[in-house]
Amino acid sequence: MNILAISGSLRTASLNTKLVYALKEAAPPEFNLSVFEGIGNLPHFNPDLDGDEPLGTVQVWRKALQAADGIILCTPEYANGVPGVLKNALDWIVSSGEFVDKPTAVISASPLATGAEKAHDSLLLTLRMMTASIVGSSRIGSVNKKLDADGVWIDEELRSELSGLIGSLSINK
Ligand code: FNR
Repeated sequence: MNILAISGSLRTASLNTKLVYALKEAAPPEFNLSVFEGIGNLPHFNPDLDGDEPLGTVQVWRKALQAADGIILCTPEYANGVPGVLKNALDWIVSSGEFVDKPTAVISASPLATGAEKAHDSLLLTLRMMTASIVGSSRIGSVNKKLDADGVWIDEELRSELSGLIGSLSINK
């Protein structure tokens, strides 16, 4: 099963990006997990640009989603919401529908104990509107204490929980 994981942060030292790469080590062996890094290259969503011949970067994003059997989105929280870059990437998918019935898992991660709960809930709201098949979600607080500086798992319990979350992407809901 091909799983595509996307971090909602563009920051070089992003904890969410570190986490999506660490998911490769948490995935059960039958899952091939790759990370999509291109959402920062997408233009600002504008329906006027969403014609018969979509822009190259948008096509790349849509094709990557189409090729995946399951999706994992991992978001930080900015000002009680989903970072604009991630919401922008999702807005490009409303008309093309790649999330329709797509097995999708949501993770939010923050150095704070709250685990980016408002961004978490907001992301679920958007994905449900897009009729994604939400298989599960995980809200991770104090994420800076759960992976070391090199992105190696410190918290084995969390690694096991996320392994289960990845596994649930193969269950057709
Ligand atoms: C934040 N952060 C933050 N955290 C939170 O729990 N709720 C919030 O509303 C915000 N708002 C916010 C705004 C801005 C402009 C910044 C820069 C940061 C903290 C944020 O969760 C923290 O920096 C994370 O580490 C960001 O995720 P990455 O980049 O490490 O993945």
